[in-house]
Amino acid sequence: MTKLLANKVGLVTGAGGGIGRAIAEAFAREGAKVVVADFNEETGAETAQLIRDAGGEAVFVRADVSDEAQVKAMVEQAVKSFGRLDIACNSAAVSRGSGPIHKFERKVFDDTLEMCLTNSWLCLKHEVEVMLAQGEGGSIVNISSNASLRGQANNTAYAAAKGGVNILTKSAAAEYGGKGIRINAVSPGVIRTPGLEKYFEEQPQMAAGLKSAAVMNRLGEPVEIAEAVVFLCSDRASFITGQLLSVDGGGAVR
Ligand SMILES: NC(=O)c1ccc[n+]([C@@H]2O[C@H](COP(=O)([O-])OP(=O)(O)OC[C@H]3O[C@@H](n4cnc5c(N)ncnc54)[C@H](O)[C@@H]3O)[C@@H](O)[C@H]2O)c1
Repeated sequence: MTKLLANKVGLVTGAGGGIGRAIAEAFAREGAKVVVADFNEETGAETAQLIRDAGGEAVFVRADVSDEAQVKAMVEQAVKSFGRLDIACNSAAVSRGSGPIHKFERKVFDDTLEMCLTNSWLCLKHEVEVMLAQGEGGSIVNISSNASLRGQANNTAYAAAKGGVNILTKSAAAEYGGKGIRINAVSPGVIRTPGLEKYFEEQPQMAAGLKSAAVMNRLGEPVEIAEAVVFLCSDRASFITGQLLSVDGGGAVR
């Protein structure tokens, strides 16, 4: 059976761990050549090695995607490594804290926007630029969060940033659909990752609610997000753009 992403070159940000790593591995399993990007050199290089050990093709590029010069260099490196860029998933994000608005530091709010929203815009900007120049379309998936779907007390900076990712996705889809570039978002529910475990430790007041968020009564696994991203990046999703797909064990319908 033909692999879903055969002959495609893919880029995944935040691919050093958690959901991003699972997406990079799934891209490779489905036949794509993968550019693994992360600001953590050790874990990013490890993901690329895991893919090569499993028989796939991957290179690691160190990049902090909140810095435009590094984003530009990352995309250039992708094209230099594999000759083109067909698909991309912008998964990198760092949640900077929680708490009531009246006690929240302006700096933490600004940092959260930069690490969760501005970074996605920067990646889109440079990924789209390459895809436009190639003139053969492409597919980009932004990773949002169910925190963006309805009001979430004490998590306003992250929720607002991810709400921004949703409308950024739809606006970009409207802008580039005519050029055959499809842009969608996947909204994870509560997924077992190193980032989530750290968050539970740092924000114990958020943990209990999040652990029981899914109607399916369990946490999700990173690979369950990756499968949705693979589908959206594949030609099977050739008429789907501007959509937000929740992969959340029913968290959004509770
Ligand atoms: N885990 C969950 O339950 C959950 C739920 C909803 C949304 N999400 C979203 O899924 C995505 C992945 O989350 P995760 O839980 O796998 O996180 P994680 O912390 O386990 O992994 C994130 C990876 O991104 C990298 N990274 C972060 N900021 C970066 C930057 N500026 N430049 C380069 N690399 C950077 C980190 O080094 C790390 O390898 C994020 O966008 C997150 O907001 C996660």
